[in-house]
Amino acid sequence: MTAPEPPALIARPCFQQDLEVVQLIYAHHVLTGTGSFEIEPPNLVEMTARWSRIVGAGWPFVVASPRSDLSRVMGFAYATQFRDRAAYSRSFEVSVYSAPTTLRSGAGAVMLSQVLTSLRDDGVREVLAFIGDSANAASIALHRKLGFNHAGALSRVGEKFGRVLDVVIMQRSLAPAKT
Ligand SMILES: CC(C)(COP(=O)(O)OP(=O)(O)OC[C@H]1O[C@@H](n2cnc3c(N)ncnc32)[C@H](O)[C@@H]1OP(=O)(O)O)[C@@H](O)C(=O)NCCC(=O)NCCS
Repeated sequence: MTAPEPPALIARPCFQQDLEVVQLIYAHHVLTGTGSFEIEPPNLVEMTARWSRIVGAGWPFVVASPRSDLSRVMGFAYATQFRDRAAYSRSFEVSVYSAPTTLRSGAGAVMLSQVLTSLRDDGVREVLAFIGDSANAASIALHRKLGFNHAGALSRVGEKFGRVLDVVIMQRSLAPAKT
């Protein structure tokens, strides 16, 4: 019997030299999509500041790369504490964006899965996703595939490209309910 092939994609830590591509990927989604409610894409200085805050806090920030070319960045994902106040310390929010050239090739699932593993290892209990636009089928399906359930919706809270937009809230527990 032959050994199974290793996965073609991996999620690895995001390093500072990856941020130029990360900024371009995010700018594409800000300018063309409703998954992010930002209107103006943050520049590289601002993306670097956001990345520094997240990795400085010890929270996960990963990119997806082909196993055969670890310098290539196919997307990024990260987690932040849901809200700053101390009682939220075990509840995190995740964000995930794949490069427009590599959609539907597994990067989103690999990255989100790695972020969830890191959060579980760090003792996080609840993970939330605030998904821009109730018509965002790709993101809703990705989170469902990774074990998230629909937890609610905020109706008509966003406005972009002349459309009024909902936010879909999805949630996944990483620990048994009683802890
Ligand atoms: C959501 C997003 C990150 C998915 O990334 P991706 O790399 O294409 O995802 P994957 O290839 O890993 O797909 C994993 C699963 O997600 C779901 N999915 C992904 N794209 C989909 C689509 N267009 N329609 C329906 N389901 C989709 C499927 O369940 C898929 O599993 P399958 O291919 O086995 O059916 C990507 O579409 C994206 O960057 N969207 C814009 C930004 C955004 O909305 N981000 C979320 C903000 S929280």
